[in-house]
Amino acid sequence: MPEPSSSSAESPSPPSVADPAAAAFVIVASDVRRSFGRDAVLCGASLQVKQGELLALVGRSGSGKSTLLSVLGGLDRDYQGQVTLFGKDLAALSDAALSQLRNEHIGFVFQSFHLLDHLSALENVLLPNAFAASPLAHAAAHERAREALARVDLADRATARPPELSGGQKQRVALARALFFRPQLLLCDEPTGNLDVTTGQRIIELFATLNQREGLTLLLVTHEPRVAAVARRVLRIDAGQVVSGSATDLVTDQSTELAPDSARPAHRQEDPP
Ligand SMILES: Nc1ncnc2c1ncn2[C@@H]1O[C@H](COP(=O)(O)OP(=O)(O)OP(=O)(O)O)[C@@H](O)[C@H]1O
Ligand SMILES: [Mg+2]
Repeated sequence: MPEPSSSSAESPSPPSVADPAAAAFVIVASDVRRSFGRDAVLCGASLQVKQGELLALVGRSGSGKSTLLSVLGGLDRDYQGQVTLFGKDLAALSDAALSQLRNEHIGFVFQSFHLLDHLSALENVLLPNAFAASPLAHAAAHERAREALARVDLADRATARPPELSGGQKQRVALARALFFRPQLLLCDEPTGNLDVTTGQRIIELFATLNQREGLTLLLVTHEPRVAAVARRVLRIDAGQVVSGSATDLVTDQSTELAPDSARPAHRQEDPP
């Protein structure tokens, strides 16, 4: 994998921080609640992520990891509680301001990739530029996209469309797209879930490099034991709340374990009278 390049002057400047006291924290979430119908998935989830941390988030299938990531990444605004990103209360941002914050400062790798099948890998990586308030010029954007593809070892698949790519390759295109704007925060949902052992190791090394050399803050939903070597903390979702986890949580693969039925009623709100 090529050496990382240093941040260039083209990178968007970090978002201005509304609350200086919160500057050290990239994410502050307090008492977040999110329900789907009568199913209460997040029941007072709180966490704080400092600038430059690399965290793993674990929890059983259906425990709410993807739900929490969507809320923290500003993709889901239908929550209760408070979420502050880069010192800014998400609820106070207009849709346009939130979109810009997301597009230019947060990289998001979805569990299901969200690639557009009719576009090439390169065009998928270029997508954030199309929605940017201050897009890079054509040549600079293409150079940036090729660099991002090279970082995930896909330089030779730039013209392939997602249906022609393997699951692991699609996952890496999604990661390249998330890195396009050299974000300050990377949120990844099972980023090594479809990768073979060797490729998974290279991606974990890329995460460590991005974190240590470029100061990127990462929150990774993962059950990959090798992430334990690079993660500073492990968080776990338990009964709709975020609790401290340990490296053992990564070694025990819970991703395929279903929450026992006995654990569900505690999340379920009572029928209305
Ligand atoms: N849009 C939705 N509508 C209804 N229910 C939803 C929706 N999104 C998630 N859920 C439910 O919320 C719960 C948590 O889902 P979530 O995807 O956050 O789990 P997860 O921890 O990411 O699981 P996995 O490890 O399988 O990816 C599940 O019971 C799921 O069915
Ligand atoms: Mg999930």
